Amino acid sequence: MKKYSKVFKGTAFSSKSPKEVQILKDYLFCINADGMIEKTISPEEADYQILLDAYENKENFHCLAHGQYFLPGFVDLHVHAPQWAQSGNALDIPLYDWLNTYTFPLESKFADLDFAKNVYEEVVSTLLANGTTTALYFATVHKEASLLLAEICAKKGQRGLVGKVVMDDPEQNPEYYRDADTETALADTEEFILAVKELAKSTKQGVYPVVTPRFIPSCTDEALKGLGELAAKYDTHVQSHCSESDWEHGYVKERFNKNDAFALNDFGLLREKSVMAHCNFLDDDDADLFAETGTAIGHCPISNAYFANSVIPIAHLHSKSVDIGLGSDISGGFSPSLFDNARQAVMSSRMLEDGVNPKLPAEERGVPNSRITINEAFYLTTAGGGESLSLPIGRLAENYTWDVQIIDTSLTSAKLPIYDANEDLHDIFQKIMYLTRPENIREVWVQGEKVHSRN
Ligand code: GUN
Ligand code: FE
Repeated sequence: MKKYSKVFKGTAFSSKSPKEVQILKDYLFCINADGMIEKTISPEEADYQILLDAYENKENFHCLAHGQYFLPGFVDLHVHAPQWAQSGNALDIPLYDWLNTYTFPLESKFADLDFAKNVYEEVVSTLLANGTTTALYFATVHKEASLLLAEICAKKGQRGLVGKVVMDDPEQNPEYYRDADTETALADTEEFILAVKELAKSTKQGVYPVVTPRFIPSCTDEALKGLGELAAKYDTHVQSHCSESDWEHGYVKERFNKNDAFALNDFGLLREKSVMAHCNFLDDDDADLFAETGTAIGHCPISNAYFANSVIPIAHLHSKSVDIGLGSDISGGFSPSLFDNARQAVMSSRMLEDGVNPKLPAEERGVPNSRITINEAFYLTTAGGGESLSLPIGRLAENYTWDVQIIDTSLTSAKLPIYDANEDLHDIFQKIMYLTRPENIREVWVQGEKVHSRN
């Protein structure tokens, strides 16, 4: 019989398609030395008992207790790691003022590596404790501190995709917080890419460098062009903010006489491995361009409720074959939990469909067919995130990574309301999605290694 590095037994939930959740009841998951799921075996299969006989009670056999379930680890497509230090603050002011009054002064402090270490250690641990096994991070303009964030992800076992932020335009960015000049911004980005690629060799789960123009308003044309070239040269991921708010979207329209999507594409920044945060004002041509180029949307529903001046039509964009995942957008979004963001994604979509202006008759209030289900929100946090990043993550299936969270529904301190021993597993899944708190997340594994546990 084939030897596996680890074997796990338990009931798991995994997305089959955006609308359908697959229930893998009492499955065996056989993990190889690389941390990949090599084989999944259902109780009906012939080798189930043979494998159980060989592995049960061995050290590398892990069996879930009653009331525990596997979910795929979550994929956060948009996190500003330094902004963890201001999560929950100043959400009542518009984006432009929030950036200039709070965010840029905070991010400028990450020139200090001791300060950076403190915040970055805590944000990575906090995300892991909330079930996030892969995160696409904005760091700051500082090359050294950005590399430190990648090192902390590597050390803590999280799959971190990290970007040194580029903000080179002296007209648009404050003197105390920007790249020294365009040439330095590009040289620092290239050095950062090479350093993270080197660091990745010493990790099992992988860490990745990301080309990161903050958003069009912060960058000169030369920087945007140079970043597009670096992304192509090193085949990296790319991230930015795209068509987020009235102010930002309007600024780009005035500068280029086109929407963000076409402007970014002109600079080579829409690629298969690109993820654009927000995208609230994408029109149908923009969406087609996203689908053609393989660019994904990082949907940030909590942040959008504060800064976006609109609600993104997720169901419509999905119907146009655009890849979409979820982002917390810490700290535009206050919560580090993708459970919270999945819940908000459902609620926002329902408000878009039903409308909120009581002066209009019900049938004229909203946008038909906008609502998404909790199954679709689960897809966005898992498989959708994996597809957006072009990585084999987000599903509990063969040839995917063993990235999981073990949810305990029966803790006395945080018990989920399950009273029927034979409750339908779809109902239990919904309760898990709506009611899980960090206390219920007992263990988190990335690439076959345990990276968080709560005793
Ligand atoms: N646009 C440019 N920078 C930011 C940021 O830090 N947060 C959000 N939400 N939007 C931005
Ligand atoms: Fe953001």
